[in-house]
Amino acid sequence: MTKWYCTNCYSQVEQNEAPQNCSNCLAHEKLILNMSEGLPTTPEDVRDIARKKLKGLCAAYPLCDGNFDKICQKEAYGKPIGFGGAGQGMSFRNNVNSLMNLRLKMRVVGEHIEPDTSTKFLGIKLDFPVMGSSTAGIEKYNDAMPEKDFCRAVIRGCKDAGTIGWRGDTWFYTPESNPALEVIKEEKGAGIPIFKPRAQDVLKKLIKMAEDADCPAVGIDLDGCGSTIMARHGQPVFRKSVKDIRELVEFTSLPFITKGIMTLEDAMACADAGVKVISISNHGGRVLDSTPGVAEVLPEISAGLNAAGFKGKVLITADGGVRTGYDVLKMIALGADAVLLGRDIIRASVGAGSLGVQLHMDHIRKTFKKAMFMTGQAKIKDIDKNILC
Ligand SMILES: Cc1cc2nc3c(=O)[nH]c(=O)nc-3n(C[C@H](O)[C@H](O)[C@H](O)COP(=O)(O)O)c2cc1C
Repeated sequence: MTKWYCTNCYSQVEQNEAPQNCSNCLAHEKLILNMSEGLPTTPEDVRDIARKKLKGLCAAYPLCDGNFDKICQKEAYGKPIGFGGAGQGMSFRNNVNSLMNLRLKMRVVGEHIEPDTSTKFLGIKLDFPVMGSSTAGIEKYNDAMPEKDFCRAVIRGCKDAGTIGWRGDTWFYTPESNPALEVIKEEKGAGIPIFKPRAQDVLKKLIKMAEDADCPAVGIDLDGCGSTIMARHGQPVFRKSVKDIRELVEFTSLPFITKGIMTLEDAMACADAGVKVISISNHGGRVLDSTPGVAEVLPEISAGLNAAGFKGKVLITADGGVRTGYDVLKMIALGADAVLLGRDIIRASVGAGSLGVQLHMDHIRKTFKKAMFMTGQAKIKDIDKNILC
C-alpha cells in the first residue's frame, strides 16, 4: 500500500492507486504527493516541484527579477504575459532593483532583544506583517491546478503561517461562479477579496457576497482597469472616479482597500474617499511598463498621507519584488504597515499547495525576525528609515 499526502489539507490516505482527488478536501491529484518519495520540507524543495510544473512559463529562479535572461521575460515578449512584466519588464525590474539598491544598517551594540514580529492589520492579528497578495488565473497557466485549489492553498497556507491571504479576480471569475469567494466562505472568511474595477453594479453584487462570506475587508485593484482580457470575455473594467470609489466605500460596512496606487495624488484621492487601506503596487509590473519601483514611490506617499493627517487612520501595504524577510524590513522602514508577496506565493502553492505557502511564509517570518534583530529593532512600530543606508 502506498501512503498519499494532500498538500492542501494535510490529510493522508493509504491505497495502491494514486487518488484522483483528496477524499477530505477534494483537492486535485496534482496536489497529492506520494509519501515514499519524501515530502517537501523547505522553500527550495517546493520551488523544485514548481519549476517542473511551470515549465516554459517560470523557472522558479532563486532570483525572480524579470531580467531578460529569465524565461518569463525572454520568451513571453510579444506573447501573453505569463508570469512576466508588461512590455520590456522595466516596471518589474524596477521593483526588484529599487529594493536591491537599499541597504540595511547593521547594529549589534546594545541591549539584547527578542524582536516581536507580530502586528495588527484592520484588527486582524498577524504573526508578521506579510500577507499573500491578490492573484488569480493560475488554473490557466500550464493547467497547474484547479482555481479553487489554488485559492485554498493561499488561504490555508497563509492562515497556517499566522497571516491572511488576499485573493484576486480574473476573466473567468463571475458573481455566479467565483472560486475566490467560494473558498473564502468555506474557510470561514479567512481571506480578503480584491475585485477588478468592474461596473459599479457588478462590484456591489460581489461586495455583498464578500460580506456574506464574512470577509474582514474588501477592495479593488484600480490598476486592473487596463485589462483587455476581461472585456474580451464580456466583463469590462473601468477607471474609477473619486465619486465611484466613495460610492463603494459607503456601500459596504467592510474596510475598503484600493490596490494599484503609485502616486501621492491617487493615494490622497482614495484616502479622501474614505478608503482604509492604500495598497501601493504596480501589479508586479504587469499593467504598465516603465513605472518606478514600488520602493521608490513608497516614502513620498507615506510621508504625504501622514502630513495630511491620515497616519493611523489609513493603512499602507506595499508589494512588488519582495523576495526575502530583508526586503520586508526595507518596505516597513519606507513606511508600509504590511507587505504582500505575489509571484513567490503563486510558485509556493503550485509546488506544494497550502504546505508550500506555509513553508514559504515561515521562511519569510524567520528571515524578517533575523533582519529586525541584526538592525536592532525590537518592535515593528519603531522601525523607520534610519535603519536604511
Ligand atoms: C500571475 C499573476 C496574477 C496576478 N493576478 C492579480 C489579480 O488578480 N489581482 C491583483 O490585484 N493583482 C494580481 N497580481 C499582482 C499581485 O497581486 C502583486 O501585486 C504582484 O505580483 C507583486 O509583485 P511580485 O510578484 O514581484 O511579488 C498578479 C500577479 C501575477 C504574477
